Amino acid sequence: MPDEIEEIQRALEKAAEGIKTPQDLQRFKEEFLSRKKGKITSLFKRIGSLPPGERSSFGRRVNQLRELAENLYKKAEKSLKEEGWKEKLRKIIPDPTLPGFHKKIPPLHPISEISHRIEEIFLRMGYDIEDGPEVETEYYNFDALNIPPHHPARQEQDTFFLGKSLILRTHTSPVQIRAMRRRKPPIRIIVPGRVYRRDEADPTHTPMFYQIEGLVVERGISFAHLKGTLETFLKALFGEETRVRFRPSYFPFTEPSAEVDISCPVCGGTDPHCSVCGGSGWIEILGSGMVHPQVLKAGGIDPEEYSGFAFGLGVDRISMLWRGISDIRNHYWNRLDFLEQMK
Ligand code: PHE
Repeated sequence: MPDEIEEIQRALEKAAEGIKTPQDLQRFKEEFLSRKKGKITSLFKRIGSLPPGERSSFGRRVNQLRELAENLYKKAEKSLKEEGWKEKLRKIIPDPTLPGFHKKIPPLHPISEISHRIEEIFLRMGYDIEDGPEVETEYYNFDALNIPPHHPARQEQDTFFLGKSLILRTHTSPVQIRAMRRRKPPIRIIVPGRVYRRDEADPTHTPMFYQIEGLVVERGISFAHLKGTLETFLKALFGEETRVRFRPSYFPFTEPSAEVDISCPVCGGTDPHCSVCGGSGWIEILGSGMVHPQVLKAGGIDPEEYSGFAFGLGVDRISMLWRGISDIRNHYWNRLDFLEQMK
């Protein structure tokens, strides 16, 4: 008799191990625990036919066997439930041990990329980044910058007028005045931002474009500082081999003023048919000069005590040079096939 109990126990343990589906679980229950035909039930039924001396020990063992069967049943049921959950989760959550998806980080817009490069160079030289409104007053955009009312830049064809002497700023220079009024010297800032001019869009013009203004005001600032700073900046941006040239120029808000050229970054001045520099070997890159005493005064700074230099550059033009972009409007058409090339 004990052998039979052991046999059933072995069968029970084996069957429990083999439970993989709810059907297996049901079959296990029927085979061992069913009240009618279950193998354990039939053992209980046998007790009555045993000699009285064996009944209690047999009964105890069959009870233990039933307990074992019930425990194995519960365990299998629990692990089936967990498997079910895992299966469901597996469908929702990707296997974290698989290699990750390659997520394409979209490239920066070329205007942003160039702006960041330029900002980084000036941040390294100890400059702050300033900001100012795109909707400006005529006063900040013109008068305070020593641009008198009859100046051609103020005429309707250049400026978007918004009424009540409000305009869209035509350059980032009004932030010079705002910054001088807001800060105390020493002032070292750059001002990236949008500017607006009433130009028809064509391959070299758009009615909105980007500039970066620079302003330094301290005691004892001379044209040598202007030259040294801009040379350092342009070599950092375009490469050490770049040559820089200053040409006398005129801006109402700087005196003296200079336009700054760099040697052609494409041909280096060696190709008389170069499409970028037109064979001249030089590219005009920015306007600059010593801050006009009237402008310092408008900024609330004593020109007897302080001097400074300023410069302004067109980000779009630099981006075009940098990327070999032949039509400035590419920056604003918002076409993915153009933008996706900017890697
Ligand atoms: N504001 C000038 C322009 O838009 C550029 C400039 C800035 C020139 C500062 C000199 C000094 O053309």
